[in-house]
Amino acid sequence: MDTSDPRRLSVSLIDLGEGHEPEFLTLVAHFETILVRQEYGRLDVIRDEGHPLRFYAVRYWNSATAAELCHRDSNVQMLTARLYQIARVTHVVNGVQRPDAVRRLLDERRARVEGDRRSGFDRRVVDIGRAEGDRRKGDRRLGPRRVRDRAGEVDLVDAARRAREHADAAFSQFKVGAALETADGSIITGCNIENATYGLTMCAERVAIFKALSEGHRVFVRIAIVADTDAPTPPCGACRQILWEFAGNIEIQLANLKGATVVHHLKNLLPLPFDARLLERHTL
Ligand code: THU
Repeated sequence: MDTSDPRRLSVSLIDLGEGHEPEFLTLVAHFETILVRQEYGRLDVIRDEGHPLRFYAVRYWNSATAAELCHRDSNVQMLTARLYQIARVTHVVNGVQRPDAVRRLLDERRARVEGDRRSGFDRRVVDIGRAEGDRRKGDRRLGPRRVRDRAGEVDLVDAARRAREHADAAFSQFKVGAALETADGSIITGCNIENATYGLTMCAERVAIFKALSEGHRVFVRIAIVADTDAPTPPCGACRQILWEFAGNIEIQLANLKGATVVHHLKNLLPLPFDARLLERHTL
């Protein structure tokens, strides 16, 4: 009987290196066998018709515990480690990463702010699930092929790096990519888009957050920003303001193409912010 819960699924984007398809298919077959035998869930691997070396791996988990056990399974870890050597993997949907307690907390907060937009600010300034400055372990990435310490962790920097490839920077030649992780594990990306009048240029970070907002996302966890500079590029002032107002004190991962990464929290990049709290008295 299929006991998998269709709401608990994880999706990864897999870009295979050339010549590795036979090995990849073998890895998939092994992984599938383990998933079924250990009753972790089931797997669908779908080839992208537009890109012969791109696949989507969809895991349907039997439960959150099954997913966790699967991530800890040493046979699975061996297969995953090998996969990372022959492919670039971006985890785009992670249906099981956040414990239910955190999800409940977010839902409660969302329910509380319904109907009063200004109080939404309080929701945004609270760090979700982690103490200020508390960085996730194993989160420093040195390059797209690095084997990640925690299976199932979203490679946000890599998503930003991919988004950067779509940048339209005809005037400055300065391409930027951003990837925003929402509370439900979705990844929304953006790139900078320039304009002949210059002033209408839109930064990667704002493209990402406006895209996310327009798709109904309201709670954000972190953002990765990638540019081709020696030291990782920080967000501009306008983007800091917009991020603060809509995402609060989120984690900001800055990276360059050489793999250097640095992590900040937004409140340290935007001290003494102007925000909706200051308008309250004037809008009653
Ligand atoms: N840019 C961004 O996309 N994000 C930033 O935070 C800094 C600047 C873009 C805007 C413009 O297209 C180019 O980089 C040069 O300023």
